[in-house]
Amino acid sequence: MRMYDIIQKKRDGRELSDEEIGFFVNGYTKGEIPDYQAAALCMAIYFRGMSDRETVTLTECMARSGDMLDLSRFGDLTADKHSTGGVGDKTTLIVAPVAASLGCVVTKMSGRGLGHTGGTVDKLESIPGYRTTLTEEEFIGQSERIGIAVIGQTGNLTPADKKLYALRDVTATVDSIPLITASIMSKKLAAGSKNIVLDVKCGSGAFMKTIEDAEKLAKNMVDIGKGCGRNVTAVLTNMDVPLGSCIGNALEVKEAIKVIKGEQKDELYEVCVTLASEMVSHVKKIAPDEARRLVAEAIDGGAAFEKMKEWVDAQGGDVQSITDTEYLPSASLIYPVLSDKDGYLTGTDAELIGDAAMILGAGRASKEDSIDMSAGIVMRKKPGDKVKKGDVLCHLHTCDVKRIKQAEEVFRSALRFGAEPPEKQGLIYKIIR
Ligand code: URA
Repeated sequence: MRMYDIIQKKRDGRELSDEEIGFFVNGYTKGEIPDYQAAALCMAIYFRGMSDRETVTLTECMARSGDMLDLSRFGDLTADKHSTGGVGDKTTLIVAPVAASLGCVVTKMSGRGLGHTGGTVDKLESIPGYRTTLTEEEFIGQSERIGIAVIGQTGNLTPADKKLYALRDVTATVDSIPLITASIMSKKLAAGSKNIVLDVKCGSGAFMKTIEDAEKLAKNMVDIGKGCGRNVTAVLTNMDVPLGSCIGNALEVKEAIKVIKGEQKDELYEVCVTLASEMVSHVKKIAPDEARRLVAEAIDGGAAFEKMKEWVDAQGGDVQSITDTEYLPSASLIYPVLSDKDGYLTGTDAELIGDAAMILGAGRASKEDSIDMSAGIVMRKKPGDKVKKGDVLCHLHTCDVKRIKQAEEVFRSALRFGAEPPEKQGLIYKIIR
């Protein structure tokens, strides 16, 4: 078999066989196929697409390219969630303990943030002492004991995706639906959970900018996940506006705690309840509405927060900083950004708000950058709110005064104002089961 023929076949719009896809994934992972040929194939896939059968095969080959976690001891109780990435997205911190408090086994590997999007692992590291690295034995043992473990992505899981993603990133082939599907779903398959809930973000702060594209991606991921033997639901959510009010690591942990204690019942709460209900519905084999009732009870009755404390404690985190969030990192400078207009806030560019948070120190522009756990933004106005000149639009949190001016400029450029309120939009567009 020759890579040249495989590239030519896809370039001409023909379907690749399972053997050809396997040949490519194995050869590229082992370094036997050079980057230029892999890049040419990715570009051919970008233009020609892939059938469901091809995408299932690509996903399975990528999943098997490295270690695969064996969670069979948990039967059908395992549940994972994945977000395609957004600004202020702290849903894992809430959804994971809620689902675990209701009997799901949540064994989760999360990523770090890059650019305008934050990563769950960074957020968890703002809890003093929290260990984001566990051995496989510790990870499984903790999941058996308390039904939840959340760590960073480890060593040799889906090496094919690591190489391919880096290549796609520099060859303008990231935004191809079959390639995104295979990338995300191969990691989910390798991480082993039987039940998977996907939060597919759509809007200015997301990868997929239109509902049509996000829906295509979501449907593809659900079909491919099912084709690989998993129960999958995708929830399509709005990412034109940051999720919740806080952006930045410790700030987001603080907000997550409010939601999990039932003290904040806003759109963030709504998204989290929906995601958790879908996980519980799969695991307990009950209707989503019934699961929703249980989820609300777990939050209001305190079981979800108890599970969060148990989880943080098991991973070495300081539980006192969860029960009293004054113990979490906090910024030495808190700077208000004031409105210079009267009217309504009609919209935001979530990506720019993520950039402003990054400038304050909350995120990384490149992989090597370090993070200020206390830095970030607390939004004081959301789209639809009436605004008067002098009102506080947000508070910028940082420990470095030199960062404030540029962050303020970028934040201001993210806001749109008008004389009339905008049409009210919910955050949840659609659920695909
Ligand atoms: N996230 C991933 O993990 N892979 C992609 O291809 C896109 C987003």
